[in-house]
Amino acid sequence: MQILGIDIGGSGIKGAPVDIDTGELVAERYRIPTPEPSVPDAVADVVKEIVKNFNWKGPIGCTFPAIVRRNVVESAANVDQGWIGVDGQKLIQKKTKCPTLFINDADAAGIAEMQFGAGRGNEGVVIMLTLGTGIGSAIFYKGVLLPNTELGHIEIRGKDAELRASDRIRQEKELDWDDWGARVNEYVQRVEYLFSPDLFIIGGGVSKKADKFLPLIHPAHAQIVPAQLLNDAGIVGAAMAASALAS
Ligand code: BGC
Repeated sequence: MQILGIDIGGSGIKGAPVDIDTGELVAERYRIPTPEPSVPDAVADVVKEIVKNFNWKGPIGCTFPAIVRRNVVESAANVDQGWIGVDGQKLIQKKTKCPTLFINDADAAGIAEMQFGAGRGNEGVVIMLTLGTGIGSAIFYKGVLLPNTELGHIEIRGKDAELRASDRIRQEKELDWDDWGARVNEYVQRVEYLFSPDLFIIGGGVSKKADKFLPLIHPAHAQIVPAQLLNDAGIVGAAMAASALAS
């Protein structure tokens, strides 16, 4: 079965049709920069553009980089504040005329990694962390997701963790891999202390450069591995989550 997966991020909005039985993209992904300001209507117009690009008529799975509880956006750390209180599912359905599932971006990425990537078959506690514009998290136990965890916002050295250790901060502050790696290490060790996971999966665009910083991250007990679906995990996971809409 094919479903259109769309990943709304702080800097880009990208989409591709996904074969949800294999987790593979069936066409090259299409990316448009996130509009500024990232107000709901402008973002929904970009989603519509992506749907049009693939001439898509079926169900859509769409991620969003904030808390999404029962389709409603409840935070806005890296998007316009105008999103708070918006029913994302309704908005996207209205614009695209396609049945839509709306889900937090890290939760979607985690779903994909648990099924097709680095978390496959793990029955313990798995924490996926996405290092991007912000830091997203998804926690699984026995393969079941605890939705909307926000581990990017725990406090480290008096600051929101994602303001110290996200990939955006690495780029903005021009941190070298050692300096940034030390920040990510401190963060991962704190999360480990709080949740005692068996496995950390590190995702986000920077996970393709895992060899540069993962050797600097030393959890006390947990294993730590890069995401296998790299930056496509959000697209794939969103499509998977939307599969119920197609049956
Ligand atoms: C948001 C999360 C999101 C993460 C990654 C954080 O700032 O609060 O909901 O998953 O960024 O985009």
